Amino acid sequence: MNVPAAPAEPVAVVLLGASGDLARKKIVPALFALFSQGLLPASFRLYGFARSAHTDAAFRALLAEHLTCRAGTPGDCAARARSFLDHCFYCSGAYDSPDAYLDLFQIMNDRDPAPGANRLFYLATPPSVFGPAARALGDAGLVQCGTSRPWSRIVLEKPFGRDRESFDRLARDTARVFREEQTYRIDHYLGKEAVQNLMALRFANRLFEPVWNRTAVESVRIEWREDIGIEGRGGYYDRYGIVRDVMQNHLLQVLALIAMDRPVGPGAAAVSRAKLDVLRRIPPPGPDALRLGQYAAADFQGRTRLGYREETGVPPDSRTPTYAELVLTIENERWRGVPFRMIAGKALDRKLTEVRIRFKPVSADLFAPAGSPPPNELVARIQPDESLRLSIVSKKPGFGLDLAETALDLRYRSVFPADVPDAYERLLLDVMNGDKSLFPHADELAAAWDIFTPALREIEDRRREPFLYPFGADAP
Ligand code: BG6
Repeated sequence: MNVPAAPAEPVAVVLLGASGDLARKKIVPALFALFSQGLLPASFRLYGFARSAHTDAAFRALLAEHLTCRAGTPGDCAARARSFLDHCFYCSGAYDSPDAYLDLFQIMNDRDPAPGANRLFYLATPPSVFGPAARALGDAGLVQCGTSRPWSRIVLEKPFGRDRESFDRLARDTARVFREEQTYRIDHYLGKEAVQNLMALRFANRLFEPVWNRTAVESVRIEWREDIGIEGRGGYYDRYGIVRDVMQNHLLQVLALIAMDRPVGPGAAAVSRAKLDVLRRIPPPGPDALRLGQYAAADFQGRTRLGYREETGVPPDSRTPTYAELVLTIENERWRGVPFRMIAGKALDRKLTEVRIRFKPVSADLFAPAGSPPPNELVARIQPDESLRLSIVSKKPGFGLDLAETALDLRYRSVFPADVPDAYERLLLDVMNGDKSLFPHADELAAAWDIFTPALREIEDRRREPFLYPFGADAP
């Protein structure tokens, strides 16, 4: 097994937006999991930074609410959490204030057992903060230039803007302080095991590549469902909506991994190039190609659920979609004519992310009396319960020639019983080790915005009304 390496040098993580949900529920627990596995250097420090005032003790209490140990982890979990929290400190201030970062710098100097540690700036903040915060960090002299040691790296969380124009602005603003090699844009779907496995499935097996094209594939369907609403994120969500929240990034990255050609070699640059080639071959869909819906109040799983427009922070006449469906095409030799259907919805009947590749049917003549054999289908389930299922047609045992649809079914958890690491753990470790393979390049994000910006703009200019579907619907 490929055992990940703990970064050899001391590292200080500066977490902007430290009291927010993303930081407390995802990033800090992932750092704690790395710490528990001995994958952080002993001198590791976490410096939380946000606008609200907290003492170190109050900040640690906030973080403690979401620290849990994996089942089966040896040792005393509470003691390990205490020891992790001893490495955490807090500083409050305005994100665009160089003076506030000088205060932070002072705290870092006072607490740092290893002067000259590498610095990882994690911006778990709204994108409007990226540019001003990068500039102020630079002005305060906290950013070590270039790629030499000690390094400074910046991690940005999606959404990277709202459209192509705002993305370009963001990219320009952060590039004034951090070079592309220092910039890591997180799309956490790329850190998921089953998404990483798409590359292995396609390129480490002889079997699939010869049929991975329009001659054999009839359609591809990428489906994303959640059985929860926006969970108190009205302020954010209403500005973005489902297309910007998951389709333009998570699902398009999955599509690129499914559709790209074999990268010319290993490493981040080759993979990114292959994804970019595919993204640039997707014609932007017109506004009418997008079916857009919004969830309405309903009883679901024994509780009455609010409709989207009743959620806190959402205007009562909001037209922001929480469900979207569209078909994309790829104008290249491999895929011309094959529909790539994308479906994404919040407040649906269950949580599910999967890719379904349907192959063309075989000619029926040989089996005429038994009817047409059903087409093969390969289903890569990304979550929950990662699996790969290939439906194949078999002869039913017996005297006749009856056919049955059967399946080869690989469940990750039975084949790989060890814990599947959380996407954020993997990605944070990669940033510390300077590995960009699982981070989209700026050019990919620009290409992704080029696909969706024209339709979004027109839909919003026209103030198009989404259809309503009840919370918990299976097929809106
Ligand atoms: C985030 C979106 O990027 O991904 C959320 O902003 C969504 O709206 C989340 O719920 C889903 O992530 P996961 O890993 O739970 O599928």
